[in-house]
Amino acid sequence: MRLGILISGRGSNFEAIASTIARRRLDAEIAIVISNRSNAAGLEIARERGIPVRVIPSQGLDREAYDRLLVDELRTHEVELVCLAGFMRLLSAHFVRAFPDRVLNIHPSLLPAFPGLDAQRQALDHGVRITGCTVHFVDEFLDSGPILIQSAVPVLDTDTVETLSARILAQEHAIYPKAVQYLVEGRVTIEGRRVLIREDEPQ
Ligand code: GAR
Repeated sequence: MRLGILISGRGSNFEAIASTIARRRLDAEIAIVISNRSNAAGLEIARERGIPVRVIPSQGLDREAYDRLLVDELRTHEVELVCLAGFMRLLSAHFVRAFPDRVLNIHPSLLPAFPGLDAQRQALDHGVRITGCTVHFVDEFLDSGPILIQSAVPVLDTDTVETLSARILAQEHAIYPKAVQYLVEGRVTIEGRRVLIREDEPQ
């Protein structure tokens, strides 16, 4: 399956997907990495791995005009599944319709709790005992589409935003490649808000 990865920054989730592919635990190919920011550190990771990159700045464009550029670029690279990996923009209905049920996002909380920015800080400020991360399908609303995988992470009394974020990130790196592999294997069906994952065939 040909993946298109959209990033805005560090790119560690992108790297987790790329290294899972390299270890042959994920049967996919990264066709293109696109960033809306030219200084995204993830771009360097892609270049080092020989993965094609493209910077598409969003300045001066409305959401739909920008998303048309993204869709064109993804189609040029024959992308079948789009993975948002720290891509800090809301996508338009135009984009979502261009890849029906084929856009995933990772978010650092157990959605629907703490959508939006600074999810780890929101969890600490709220005082929850358990938070985590979520891989979900993307619709045109913020962090709201059907949920594919979640992983829970306890909040410790000693946690700061940094320590909590680091433990959540380790789980993000585990569940994102796994979620992509479920789709690659064709095991996923969406029924309303519920995502059903067929059991692995016994060997
Ligand atoms: C990750 O923690 C991801 O869950 C979060 O941004 C970080 C990106 O890190 N995404 C969101 O908050 C989306 N609402 P990365 O660039 O190292 O993958």
